[in-house]
Amino acid sequence: MLPTLEKFIAGMPKAELHLHIEGTFEPELMFEIARRNKRKIRFNSVEEVKEAYKFNNLQEFLDIYYEGANVLIEERDFYDLTWAYLQKVHAQHVVHVEIFFDPQTHTDRGIAFATAINGIHQALEDGEKQLGISFKLIMCFLRHLPEEAAFQTLAEAMPFKEWIYGIGLDSSEMGHPPSKFERVFEKARQEGFVVMAHAGEEGPAEYIWEALNLLHVARIDHGNRCLDDEKLVQVLAERQIALTLCPLSNLELKVVQTLDGYPIQQMLDNDLLITINSDDPAYFGGYINENYLGIARPLNLSKETLAQLAKNSFRASFLSEEEKDRMIAKVDAYCASFTI
Ligand code: HPA
Ligand code: ZN
Repeated sequence: MLPTLEKFIAGMPKAELHLHIEGTFEPELMFEIARRNKRKIRFNSVEEVKEAYKFNNLQEFLDIYYEGANVLIEERDFYDLTWAYLQKVHAQHVVHVEIFFDPQTHTDRGIAFATAINGIHQALEDGEKQLGISFKLIMCFLRHLPEEAAFQTLAEAMPFKEWIYGIGLDSSEMGHPPSKFERVFEKARQEGFVVMAHAGEEGPAEYIWEALNLLHVARIDHGNRCLDDEKLVQVLAERQIALTLCPLSNLELKVVQTLDGYPIQQMLDNDLLITINSDDPAYFGGYINENYLGIARPLNLSKETLAQLAKNSFRASFLSEEEKDRMIAKVDAYCASFTI
């Protein structure tokens, strides 16, 4: 029997808006795919891999995350990766996902853009049909690479435009401000893509301003550092630009030292549209429910607050207004009917 809080979180309908599909690569599946593709990995066991997942900052994580992705070769590998994630979150009552993929991580190793996206897209289609999980796929540019490489990736994406809803920006934040990608984001918007960017995870509030004013983002991924700038908080709140927070990621990458002081209440009090997400669950010790629980316990969050966060996940999504209202009503109905 699950304790009440866990049970409440587990059964609540939710959307996940900040999830890197390459970050869902569990060591067991990594070994299996490496074996069938006859690729070596430098670890001898699942335990050894897990032991290596201790990070002091974003870069230490990224180095190992890109290494893990190296064993993904065939379309089927991308399918299996995505399907495993969908099954996992289906069991956690996630009903809508907006997931990132990093094409450059694959194309730079000689894997065709089509191979990666065909596998991911097919699994998402199957997830919608078989598990009832609706989806949007978002392609990220790697910000440690030049803007020219992002232009090239955008061009490669064009034959798959119908499958790609939005464009994001991820990888090493410090020293790679949103301004570096102003022109390619303008082109992406002209092509009709919705855009968002990781900003204010390790980088300063200034990077969030740049994402808003230069990239014209619809959402900020992470955005923790907005709290350093009162005016920025006001603007994010007025415009209801969502922040996709990832508590366990922040803890594991030392963006925060503990979850005891995670500023959920401060952000809600400031009218920020915040959501809870898992980022790279295979690396950070938990999927979406573990992220909700990770803050619910130390912060002693009420069921109302947790439900607010779940409702925010739909409000901040790219679903239609009708779909959002329908999903939010489902969260309310779940709360009303929840009994210990
Ligand atoms: N930040 C930046 N890039 C990333 C992350 C993240 O948390 N996860 C995967 N790529
Ligand atoms: Zn992320």
